[in-house]
Amino acid sequence: MLIGSSVLLGWHWPMMGLIIACCSLAYVGLTITLSLGYIAPSASLANSWDSRLGGALADAISCNAVVKGFATEQRENERLATVIAKWRRRMRRSWVRGAINGTTQGVTLLALRVAVICYALLLCSRRQATAGDIALVLTSFFVLQGYLRDVGMHVRNVQRSVNDMEELVYIQSQPLDIADCPEAKQIRITKGRIDFKNVHFHYGNDGLPLYRDFSVSIKAGERVGLVGPSGSGKTTFVKLIQRLYDVNGGRIQIDEQDISKVTQASLRSQIAIVQQECLLFHRSLAENIAYGQPGASQAEIEEAAQLASAHEFIARLPKGYGTLVGERGVKLSGGSASGWRSRVPSLRTRRS
Ligand SMILES: Nc1ncnc2c1ncn2[C@@H]1O[C@H](COP(=O)(O)OP(=O)(O)O)[C@@H](O)[C@H]1O
Ligand SMILES: [Mg+2]
Repeated sequence: MLIGSSVLLGWHWPMMGLIIACCSLAYVGLTITLSLGYIAPSASLANSWDSRLGGALADAISCNAVVKGFATEQRENERLATVIAKWRRRMRRSWVRGAINGTTQGVTLLALRVAVICYALLLCSRRQATAGDIALVLTSFFVLQGYLRDVGMHVRNVQRSVNDMEELVYIQSQPLDIADCPEAKQIRITKGRIDFKNVHFHYGNDGLPLYRDFSVSIKAGERVGLVGPSGSGKTTFVKLIQRLYDVNGGRIQIDEQDISKVTQASLRSQIAIVQQECLLFHRSLAENIAYGQPGASQAEIEEAAQLASAHEFIARLPKGYGTLVGERGVKLSGGSASGWRSRVPSLRTRRS
């Protein structure tokens, strides 16, 4: 459209073609420059503060019980208010820049329109153009203006979408810390013997290793308690068995199979874990109990609950096993629920 109208009008009146071509190019150039150099930086900053605000809110709300328990509502309010104030400043700056951009685009288009109309009137007064010519010029120009406005809108949309996706793309582009090796097989655990062989491990770039040339064997069926001061690596020991981190040296074997050579899914589906902090999904009790074994029958679920002495308590609930729990179990009545949560063996426990 742009090239066509410039050529067509320039054919009759070279100056008119030049005005339209130059002003349109200037408009597109201005739109792109403003979007990339002026809006994009403030928009990505505003987006990163959007994420921070989400994090601060999630923190304040999910730790609600602790906040109340220590009567620190005031402090948490102030903390949140600081984040919100910063978020608001950044958001507002981004919006203001967006508005300035829109206005600049509008003004440029208006200037273009004024130039075209004035020049058409000038041609008319010099008798170089008829009323029909003016009608042609104005019609072509209004069609062209619609397209230009679209160009502005598309550039703005692309820029906004790119900014919104930035963080996601960044996360997506991170390499996986723990990846299955190409020829990874399913692990076959029949007995459950665990061997740490000359394991060397440190977190990330930590200089000091947590384990140095560490070997230990846990025989099948053996019950082991790990004792040590806080920070001595007890939780890490369990995480290494689950292969949530790869060891830096040596190897860990379960039933003589190196866990770094098997698929993570097959390994972890064979391990039952009672987390330090018990979480429940916002689903029914039955679904939560059967989480490790989705196809479990009602009888199996009840059996698991009975083993945890939770069956009677659940049976007394109006909706029994269909009771919705979740948002971290807060919907279940306090005392009995927390006791139950720490006792219940999921079906995974029994299977392994
Ligand atoms: N994800 C992690 N990144 C870096 N260091 C960690 C991480 N998790 C734990 N650590 C560090 O490793 C050490 C052992 O932690 P952990 O195994 O949780 O100890 P324990 O369970 O015995 O209290 C601590 O010094 C802790 O700060
Ligand atoms: Mg621990």
